[in-house]
Formats: sequence, C-alpha cells, structure tokens
Amino acid sequence: MTTLLSRLTSFFSNATANDDEASYLCSQIIQDADQHLVASRLAEMLKNSGNAWPPKPTHAESWPDALKPYYTVYQRIAPFLPVHESSLDDAENRILIDKSRSLFAAVLDEEVDLPDVCETLEACSQSDSDLMPISGWLGFYSCIASLRHGYRWGILPVVREAQNEKSLQFPHELDIPWPYIQRRLGITSPGGSMSSNSYYNFDANRNIVYPITAGLSEEHNRTELWNSLLFVEIEDKALPLYRHISKAVQFLENDDIPSTISTLQKANDDCKAAFKHFYENMNDFNLVPSIWLPYCQGFQGWTLEGINGVSGGQNMLIRTLDSFLGVRPWPTEEEEALHLPLAQRNWLNSLRKFDIREVANQKGNEEVIKLLDHMVSQLRLWRMGHMRKMQRYQVHRPERNKMTAGKSLVRDGGVADDGAMVNHLKEMLSVRLRETK
Ligand code: HEM
Repeated sequence: MTTLLSRLTSFFSNATANDDEASYLCSQIIQDADQHLVASRLAEMLKNSGNAWPPKPTHAESWPDALKPYYTVYQRIAPFLPVHESSLDDAENRILIDKSRSLFAAVLDEEVDLPDVCETLEACSQSDSDLMPISGWLGFYSCIASLRHGYRWGILPVVREAQNEKSLQFPHELDIPWPYIQRRLGITSPGGSMSSNSYYNFDANRNIVYPITAGLSEEHNRTELWNSLLFVEIEDKALPLYRHISKAVQFLENDDIPSTISTLQKANDDCKAAFKHFYENMNDFNLVPSIWLPYCQGFQGWTLEGINGVSGGQNMLIRTLDSFLGVRPWPTEEEEALHLPLAQRNWLNSLRKFDIREVANQKGNEEVIKLLDHMVSQLRLWRMGHMRKMQRYQVHRPERNKMTAGKSLVRDGGVADDGAMVNHLKEMLSVRLRETK
C-alpha cells in the first residue's frame, strides 16, 4: 500500500514538474518572438494553440451559449456510431448509414438553434471579439470535425457502401459553422485533420472529448486513446527540439558557430528522446492491430470529392524535421493548407525558407554539417522503423475497400489485393528516403 501510494505521489509530482517545465518553456518561446523570423513563427504557433504546445484546446465550457449544444449533440450520438460486428451486405449497410444520418439530423435539429449559431459565429469572428478564446476555437473545430466525420461514415467500422459515395450533402447545422472555423484557423479541407481529430480532441487531463469507440471494450477505448495520445506525447517531447531548432537557425545566421554546435547537439538528443517515445509506445498493447484499422483509422478518412482525410503525415514533429533538414518533396501550399492550420504552416515555411543545410554548406563548418547529417540519419532510421511497425496494422477487413486515411486510396469493388496498400506505402517511403540525401 505504502509503495503504491509513494508511486502515485511520485507520478503526480513528476507530472506537475513536467507541466511546469513545459509552461516555462512555452513562455520563454513566446518571449523570444522578436529575436528572429523563425522564433516569431514558433511563438505564433504556440499562441494559436492556446499559448501552449502541444495545443491546449478548451471545450463547451469556453464557448458562447449558442455553440454549446454541439458538444451535447456529439455526446448523445457517439454511442450509436460503432457496431460490434459489421454487416457484409451493402443494402443492409445502406439502411444502417441512412438511419444513423437521420439520427444526426434529428438530434442537431432538436438541440441547435441555427439563427442563434449564425449570429454568435458572426460576432465571434470580428477581429476585436473576445467572445471565444483561441483555445475554444480549437475545441469547437474538433467537435464539428468529429460530427462531420461521424455523419460522413454513419457507422463504424466504415463500410464500402459509404466509401463508394463521391459526394454528400451535410445538414446545415454542420455546414454553417465550417467556413468560420476554416477562416479562423486557416485550413481549407471540408473534413478534419490531425489537429482537429487528435491534437484538439483532448481535455486538460488528456482524456478524449469526442470518442468514437463509446460502449466498446477496454481494448477498443485504449487503442482509440493511443491513436491520438501518441501524437500528442510526441509533441511534448518535441517542444524543446523546436526551441533548439529555432535557436540553431539564429546562431548560424549570426556566425556564432560554437553556440550553433552546442544547440544542434541538444537538438539531436531531443530528436532521439522523441523517437524513443514513439518506439516504446507504438506497441500491440496500446494499439491493438486488429482494432486500429477498423475502429480508429477508418473514421479519419474522408475521400469525398477526392479530398484526403487525416494522416499520420500531418503531425508536426516529422513535418518540422523535413522542413528544417530540407527533406523534399514538400507538399504544395495548397495541399498543406487543406489540413494544417496557418500558424503551423508559417512555422514550417520559415524553416524551409531558411534552409539550414544549404546555409551550413555555404559556411562550410564540418561539425555543423555533421550534426545536421546526424539528424537526417535519425529521421531516416525512424521512417524505416515506422514503416516496419505500421505494416502490422494493415489488416484485411472484408466490409471495406482498401483505404489509407491520408491518401484516400479507395478501390471500387474492394477486391484489390492486400499488398496494394503496403506497396503504396513503400513507394511513399522510398521517395522520402531517396530525397533524404
Ligand atoms: C498511432 C500509431 C500509428 C499508426 C498505426 C500509424 C500508421 C500509419 C500509416 C498506415 C500511414 C500511411 C497511411 C496514411 O498516410 O494515412 C502512416 C503515415 C505516416 N505516419 Fe504513422 N502511424 C502511427 C503513429 C505515428 C506517429 C506517432 C507519427 C509521428 C511521430 C507518425 C508519422 C507518420 C508519417 C510522417 C506518415 C507519412 C509517411 C512518411 O512521411 O513517412 N505515425 N502512419
């Protein structure tokens, strides 16, 4: 008993110490904003994430009254989304999807006062409005994106009958808030993103706010939790790395080589810590392979009008490293604007523009070049490790077509061979590795 108590006490005091460290680091980053363009972009990303990183969204308690019912709608509908056994009969699935969408429409109609919502969103969107803090916008984005994905698929696991739809009419209650969110956050996709569906889908205690496996087993709930939590915890580890990256840029530009070297050494250590966390936690206990694809990944897809859904590729750590180290091809501005909020893109673009490896080559300091190359090989090794691990998750599901959430790789008929997806992923990986010179 004493041991359990002391373990718990040490767990909570460590958690508090880590929280304190993280908020101290965040305030330092925000203070450093005027030191360099890259530093200002990093500060801007934090400010637009609730003065925190990883982002700190807030939910219904921070929204104006007219918007709060959306939270209630989600919680009322969530238990009806997942089923234990999927039907393989398209006609039966059509009935289930339509029934689920009618339920969405009825509950939205019952709870949401649309004229009130319009008026409130108009008021919240005025540049001088303080009706909804940015953290509230993040939570609201997560809520509406979760509702839109729920409506889009109707049932979970997602089924071929829904995948084969090319377009879809959403209820007004889900369409009207969307452009306001798009403008406020600076995204263009009609569906969710890694930010809305994972980063912003937590409360202050890191519990999922808009669940998709309500009423299923503990294994389902755990897999759902880790499908988002791993991305968030990786960002806990990445925060010191971002600061070191930003500092290294500044030091190198000022020709302060000793400080560049010591900062890049720290950045290499940070990178190692983040990747270690990934390797340790992407395991079959946290993320059960037979559950992940049908119950977690499917919901993240979109595919309507050829638009991609959420992909692991939208996470900030790997995009930051690719941008910092010049690992091409970078997504086009248009592609990236679909899913990455403007402040995240501005941070990445500032790193791409600086192009540190190019600058290091021009300045010709061997040690700086070596440390950057070392980060590149860490990233390369991580990509190969991730590829190996993710293959365990490509299980066959008879009720659906092959689909990677990020690439909308859907095949009509659903009998495309099982290797197709893995080959597609290997292709993606080899392009990246070729570019990682
Ligand atoms: C939670 C467990 C995870 C699973 C099961 C998983 C699985 C996958 C799958 C199937 C893909 C390819 C399909 C797609 O684009 O949607 C993918 C892509 C990707 N994932 Fe993950 N992933 C996981 C966690 C992570 C984490 C924590 C990171 C980042 C630290 C990450 C980073 C990436 C990246 C960057 C890509 C794009 C390909 C690339 O650039 O190499 N994934 N992941």
